[in-house]
Amino acid sequence: MDVVGIDLDPARVAQLARRRCAFSEPGLPELLYSGLDSGRLRVTTDYGPVSDADVVIIAVGTPVQDTRLVDHYLRAACTELAGRLRRGQLVILKSTVPPGVSRKVVAPLLESGGLTVGEDFGLAFCPERLSEGRALHELRTFPIAVGGWCPDSAAAAAAFWRRTIGTEIIHCTSMESAEMVKLANNWWIDHNIAMANELAKLCAVLDVDVLEVIAAANTIRKGTGNVNILLPSVGVGGSCLTKDPWMVWRAARDRGLDLDTVPVARKVNDSMPGYTVDLIVEELARAGRSLGQAKIAVLGVAFKNNTGDLRATPVLPVVTGLREGGAEVAVFDPLADPAEVAKVFGVTPARTAPEALAGADCIAVLARHDEFAEIDFVALRESMAPSCVIVDGRAYYSREAIDRFRRHGFGYRGIGR
Ligand SMILES: NC(=O)c1ccc[n+]([C@@H]2O[C@H](COP(=O)([O-])OP(=O)(O)OC[C@H]3O[C@@H](n4cnc5c(N)ncnc54)[C@H](O)[C@@H]3O)[C@@H](O)[C@H]2O)c1
Repeated sequence: MDVVGIDLDPARVAQLARRRCAFSEPGLPELLYSGLDSGRLRVTTDYGPVSDADVVIIAVGTPVQDTRLVDHYLRAACTELAGRLRRGQLVILKSTVPPGVSRKVVAPLLESGGLTVGEDFGLAFCPERLSEGRALHELRTFPIAVGGWCPDSAAAAAAFWRRTIGTEIIHCTSMESAEMVKLANNWWIDHNIAMANELAKLCAVLDVDVLEVIAAANTIRKGTGNVNILLPSVGVGGSCLTKDPWMVWRAARDRGLDLDTVPVARKVNDSMPGYTVDLIVEELARAGRSLGQAKIAVLGVAFKNNTGDLRATPVLPVVTGLREGGAEVAVFDPLADPAEVAKVFGVTPARTAPEALAGADCIAVLARHDEFAEIDFVALRESMAPSCVIVDGRAYYSREAIDRFRRHGFGYRGIGR
């Protein structure tokens, strides 16, 4: 396929044209290079090429503010498209939206150019369900849910995905159903993690290792798969799980239905950065230190392991809490852009792990990137405070690694461990 990527942000387009990927995604740079080199992929700020396309995919941001969808990016994109659509084209919306937006917002805006959806052009909603850091692998393996404006639109979208990606197609009987598929996925994930986080809090007071409990609990079958309790952590961040459940909640509220599980799960997950700060304070106290006297080395500031993405990262409230308590905080994240870290966190990040770790009373591993495996805390032991404690926000160190830390004089505390 010949692909044209259109974005209003000239800096993002220029960055891609210079062969730079903003996010760490295995295999993505190679795909970008081969697309640009072969001429099959072009990136531009110009909407002009839309008229030549057979299929137009909309994937603009759909943030939420005060539980309501901020739809101006979506509206602007549809308005730009409206005047350029021609007969026979297929438009696919991939941005996550509340149920009804494809039909009630996108379709009328696209029709404002004079063509009629279902007659002159097709429209389908196909949710984007990939997770950052595994996106290409999941793209090649995950089924694609398709909901069409009409049967012809649905058939055209299914044929397009079959030809381009070739994965299984899940036929939804309406666009609203496909919109809900995406929201149900993220509602489930956020809810599941909230349960894992509360399980971790309980395991901590029972002096039981939450990972052992989860691993064993997940061994029985239930429904069509296994029990699948996800992992507790320093918190839930990123641009999707922090907003999509609110889309669900608002969609229900607007129809006179109150959903209890969404706010509860959000509250639990939002409590985790504060819980992590409390763990650090407790462990420092155990070692006879107060937060105000301590240097904390934070390793990993991204919202999840193996990405450099700082959007809604739960590490930010942790760092803020530590600094408010008077601690000196050094941060290190080899995957995050140092200028962005400085902007978001208000501190210049350390250039190397040893620089961040020097003199540390506490090492807080809050995103555990694979390359951190090369940092040997034990080998650097002399450069840290004698009572240094490791607080594990999502590294999920093995029992062997924890025993080794302890043999070399480190304290260790994990979320629920
Ligand atoms: N990031 C993920 O992992 C992920 C996963 C699943 C679903 N989604 C969904 O995909 C959508 C996009 O997410 P994202 O993380 O890429 O958002 P983003 O904000 O990082 O990127 C959106 C891009 O759209 C561009 N844009 C805004 N208005 C435009 C317009 N009118 N015309 C052209 N470009 C425009 C912005 O400049 C930006 O580069 C959202 O609905 C999100 O919920 C994202």
